[in-house]
Amino acid sequence: MSVDECVAWLKRLHYLFRQLHEIFTARITSEPLYELKTAFSHHGWLCAEQATALRTRVGEMREPPLGLEAVPHPGLKLAVDEVRSAPDATALCVGLYDLLLPSLRESLEEYRQATNPLADAPSVRLSRFALLDVDDMLRFGRVAIEGLATTHESQAMDGWRELLRQSLKCAGGISGRGEETTVLPSPCYSARPWHYDPVPRRDARFHDSYNGGVNPEAFLYDERFSPRDKTLMLFYKRLREIDVPEMMASILVESPEKPWGFHHDMSRQLWDEARHAMMGEVGFHQLGIDWTRIPINYTWSLNLNTQLTAQERHAVLFFIEQGLMPRTGKRYEWEVGKESGVALASLFQDFDWADEVLHAQLGREWYVKGFGDLNSALAYGDRCWSKVMSRWGEYREQGLTQHRNWWPELYANACAILGVPPDTQAAAFCETYETVRADLKEISASG
Ligand SMILES: [Fe+2]
Ligand SMILES: [Fe+2]
Repeated sequence: MSVDECVAWLKRLHYLFRQLHEIFTARITSEPLYELKTAFSHHGWLCAEQATALRTRVGEMREPPLGLEAVPHPGLKLAVDEVRSAPDATALCVGLYDLLLPSLRESLEEYRQATNPLADAPSVRLSRFALLDVDDMLRFGRVAIEGLATTHESQAMDGWRELLRQSLKCAGGISGRGEETTVLPSPCYSARPWHYDPVPRRDARFHDSYNGGVNPEAFLYDERFSPRDKTLMLFYKRLREIDVPEMMASILVESPEKPWGFHHDMSRQLWDEARHAMMGEVGFHQLGIDWTRIPINYTWSLNLNTQLTAQERHAVLFFIEQGLMPRTGKRYEWEVGKESGVALASLFQDFDWADEVLHAQLGREWYVKGFGDLNSALAYGDRCWSKVMSRWGEYREQGLTQHRNWWPELYANACAILGVPPDTQAAAFCETYETVRADLKEISASG
């Protein structure tokens, strides 16, 4: 294949990875199933990594202007639009893991065989790495589809599978080197315009999601309490971070005008936050604690997604993450973890801290630079956060939650499992979020 032929093919692979990245990201917020929410966070990032590698490679091949934002063929667009518009998790997973990703896999493999391994060695290497990521995604996807759909349900989607196959065929396959067919099939799910759903949803293991009856930061910074007891609050805080991918996904979906580098870097951060949530889950699991008994609040992602613009949400995110950097933030959490004697708490907080340092850098690159200077960028973030209505009292009046204090039960349970006597002061902890937000700043009467 000539340079021109390689570039044309690589651009189509890039288009697929980029679109897959968008589809995964767009579903994180509204997908209730926790395992899918975290997997989409992971797979969105893997696709972003591959898209970036392909962009770099195309840029090396005598190409400017690169034309990487162009749609290579309406057939490819129809296939991805159909999957984007899939009406439920089952159809979405079939479209992603049973159609688009296997086709992409095949095309990467074909490319590797077709191109000259000496002349085009950098692309060969790139496709080998891409195949590793795609295979990881497919391994998960097969299990997900088995878990989600009965054979009957899966067979019922055969007509739609055929539509997707025909769309790709019409484009001459992903490579564009197959025989093109002229007639584009009629759209099914994508016949109506697609809309992003900004309202976070959770599965049945999550309950009492408006509960603000326990303020873990107040416990964490209270010198009366032991590091061992504080690890429970640390694991809770990590697990609650599942609201960050739910919120960050909305920034990405609603910022199509931002350069690719923004989307790539923010996707990395988004996946890190999903990992932090999983660290909390694993931490509880290792202690033998059933985390599903604890209400995992989601009002942060709900309120930010429905009350602020994408730019304002990014400002709040940066303000919060910047606040995690001083002595009282991530280093302190790691020190608590180290002193607790819970090895996983120490390890997870160590990596959590490292990730947050990266996130603060990304924030300076993609948020502060557009703003001018750090101080006004921070002040704006603080103002945006204050603007978010905290409806602690209203939630209770509306019957959305009783703000039950779930801490004593969790604490008693943990002490029983560990075989240690409870500390009476810790057991009596009852500070809430009624008047104090997560950075321990007083909430003003207006909001
Ligand atoms: Fe985090
Ligand atoms: Fe972060």
